[in-house]
Amino acid sequence: MTRIFSGVKPTGHLTLGNYLGAVRRWADVDQNRADALFCVVDLHALTVEHDPGRVRRLSRQAATLLLASGLDPKLCTVFVQSHVDEHARLSYLLECVASDGEMRRMIQYKEKAARERTRGGSVRLSLLTYPVLMAADILAYGTDEVPVGDDQTQHVELARDLAVRFNQRYGHTFVVPRATRPVVAARVMNLQEPTSKMGKSEDVGPGIVYLLDEPEVIRKKIMRAVTDSGQDVVYDREGRPGVSNLLEILAACEGGNPEGLAGVYESYGSLKKDTAEAVVELLRPVQERHRELCADPAYVEGVLRDGAEKAREMARPWVDAAYRAIGLLPPA
Ligand code: AMP
Ligand code: TRP
Repeated sequence: MTRIFSGVKPTGHLTLGNYLGAVRRWADVDQNRADALFCVVDLHALTVEHDPGRVRRLSRQAATLLLASGLDPKLCTVFVQSHVDEHARLSYLLECVASDGEMRRMIQYKEKAARERTRGGSVRLSLLTYPVLMAADILAYGTDEVPVGDDQTQHVELARDLAVRFNQRYGHTFVVPRATRPVVAARVMNLQEPTSKMGKSEDVGPGIVYLLDEPEVIRKKIMRAVTDSGQDVVYDREGRPGVSNLLEILAACEGGNPEGLAGVYESYGSLKKDTAEAVVELLRPVQERHRELCADPAYVEGVLRDGAEKAREMARPWVDAAYRAIGLLPPA
């Protein structure tokens, strides 16, 4: 059976970008067709300046939202990365296979490191090695497919490269994984800055729709989205990034395609109105279920406990095999 692994970082509240680019597909498709693991990757949240209490709260919230989005613990494994030691154990071995030049070429590293430096802060070493830990997350489970948004393609490529290199040097050990992306909305853009990704790290942003935003807030953010000069509704991500982003969001909500929808609308106003309503309706059941789950924290904790136990069992043989292959003496 196909093995699927993916994860979400608890560095901020989950956004519409996370949902359309990744989480919705995990719930609607991936968990039903494969042996799938979905992980709140909390160790990755420590790569930039962080507040311990906030990471803890956001980890719990992210796990609750994954369940509210429809991940079913009877069908898949939901857990928190730091509960399974195998990720960190394998990460070190993969650091011995990766090169520093390869790490410094990662686009996200370059962008985030530059941002930290302009703020006058220092760059944590873990920000540089982060993609190796991500490769460990993936390779520790013999993963075939990694369903992610566009921004993660380069990181999954690295996981592939490391798997191939390890196998060549030390004998066949790892499955070589591949990224899968959604047909539309693989890169949802910020509504106020449609040439940048809708990221979740900024705390409040008028251009970011959060999964837990009230319907009125969602409507306001979408109605105020920056659109492009021009009047007609055309799908052209380069020339008309604002309108194209709305068309993608609407298409993702309704299951159509953005080019086709462009022909249906005569004004930006009606496109925004329909997009706002579509997003409100899409998120309504997730928000309702989230409210119910918040009233039952013991259930969520139980899911995470069982998930970690299952994940540990799945990861251990892969990681033990890598320890043997690379030349470490097995314990007596
Ligand atoms: P992160 O928030 O970086 O942990 O991302 C979790 C998942 O959501 C990854 O698969 C990302 O590729 C995906 N994702 C995050 N932001 C967006 C976005 N704006 N559009 C599409 N996918 C996204
Ligand atoms: N780096 C991913 C992101 O920022 C999150 C992540 C960590 C991940 N480990 C993973 C995604 C393993 C897929 C598989 O979105």
